Amino acid sequence: MKKIQKLEMVNISKSFQGNFANKDINLHINSGEILGLLGENGAGKTTLMNILYGLYQPDSGEIRINGESVKINSPIDSIHHGIGMVHQHFMLIQNHTVIENIALGYEKTPFFFPKIRIRDKVVEFSEKFNFAIEPYKKVWQLSAGEQQRVEIIKALLNGADLLILDEPTSVLTPQETKELFRILKDMKAQGHMVIIISHKLDEIMDICDRVTVIQKGRIAGHADTANMDKRSLARMMIGREVLFNVNREPLPRGEQVLKVSNLHVIGDKGLPVVKYISFDVYANEIFGIAGVAGNGQKELAEAITGIRPIKSGAVFAGKKNITNMSPRKIYDHGVSHVPEERIKFGIAPGLFLYDNAILKQHHLEKFSKNMFLEYGRIKNHTKSLVDSYKVATHSIDVQIKNLSGGNIQKLILGREISEKPSLLVASHPTYGLDVGATEYLREQLLKRRREGGAVLLFSEDLDEIFELCDRIAVMFQGEFTGILDSSDKEKLADIGLMMAGSVRY
Ligand SMILES: Nc1ncnc2c1ncn2[C@@H]1O[C@H](COP(=O)(O)OP(=O)(O)OP(=O)(O)O)[C@@H](O)[C@H]1O
Ligand SMILES: [Mg+2]
Repeated sequence: MKKIQKLEMVNISKSFQGNFANKDINLHINSGEILGLLGENGAGKTTLMNILYGLYQPDSGEIRINGESVKINSPIDSIHHGIGMVHQHFMLIQNHTVIENIALGYEKTPFFFPKIRIRDKVVEFSEKFNFAIEPYKKVWQLSAGEQQRVEIIKALLNGADLLILDEPTSVLTPQETKELFRILKDMKAQGHMVIIISHKLDEIMDICDRVTVIQKGRIAGHADTANMDKRSLARMMIGREVLFNVNREPLPRGEQVLKVSNLHVIGDKGLPVVKYISFDVYANEIFGIAGVAGNGQKELAEAITGIRPIKSGAVFAGKKNITNMSPRKIYDHGVSHVPEERIKFGIAPGLFLYDNAILKQHHLEKFSKNMFLEYGRIKNHTKSLVDSYKVATHSIDVQIKNLSGGNIQKLILGREISEKPSLLVASHPTYGLDVGATEYLREQLLKRRREGGAVLLFSEDLDEIFELCDRIAVMFQGEFTGILDSSDKEKLADIGLMMAGSVRY
């Protein structure tokens, strides 16, 4: 196949059940370019890229490579044409090694000594692009960044000239993001082209040459990033100003809603990942936990909410000891949870939107009577969640897996906040949300705080932590390197060092 010099999508339209997701979309990309694809949650970005990758067929329009019209009927066709894609949710097989995963998707897996030959290829590509990757590790042992590198290598081995990345940084640590961008810049220098979808406007400004913005399925505009800034990008996306800052008024501390004492938790690899941690959270407070991902934050959240067993120590919700209770019981004691692995723990993908809108709440009196679910009420409740959280969907009678990534997230957030829990445990609640939805969510968290709720916020976004939190704990290798008041600017200046474990307060 000839190398792609220029790729165009011309007048592409696509509908699902009579509702268009893409309408008359035109975009192009040249070799050596990085193009950002922007738009609100549900704008149609993933759909458009799935068309380019051959997962969906457009209803009309065409794809041109080097000026010639091509038909892409499946991912196999797109790979033949030199197009590779890394999806919004990774698609690797967890129990297989890196090599085995690559062999599965590899067009040219050799018949003899496949593993050795593929390993040689992996090593060759790792050296070419300066990747760090261990071919014999199982996928479940890899961090998100490593899994992503496996996906990228898979695409490059198949000869991808164009690499499509759907929200590649939402699961990465800041260090991993830096590493990814270095790799993408190397690829660009070697004449590859990249299309990247992201809601993080700083990143788009950093890495992209140009952007194409989609609004409600149609092109809203194209621009060179050199002529744009964060605000003008946001305006182009959602058609209004976004504030990028929120107002957190001081409030007196309320009652204690969470007490964690000497909590000790074992991780998936059999080693301690949360080591004898103690802290309290109070009503009218947002308590932030900052740190580089992989330092025990995920396991701490899971232990508090009942998803992961507690080895020793105790957790109290108010006065009630909830240590090692089931998630459902913990929920009934006023603790709700927006999990980090939302597709796995947050929803039932094959169920309808309205079923998902009341997960863990179906036994509440307002939704059921004499053991029968009251679908009329459930649907009304779902409609009001969909309205207030602006979940983009044509109907509530659809399976939730058909919603866009950001809209699934909005529904989970709405569900967990709407019951007014005394404590909301929120892991990266704004991941995957567009700028408008992020602003709305932050306002909702502050509203819970004002109304007497508490929030335990896990985030790697320091701006988010500083803006929202009353107190901030920094987590490093399963321990807190300090719990600081957000007014303590002097000590907070050391937060980077605390995150690296080299300063403790
Ligand atoms: N297989 C499908 N069946 C029905 N509707 C679908 C399907 N795939 C996508 N849609 C709808 O198409 C629209 C666009 O979704 P898409 O996933 O492309 O959005 P997106 O721009 O990627 O959003 P996000 O930023 O939230 O990921 C949404 O309204 C979505 O519900
Ligand atoms: Mg998407």
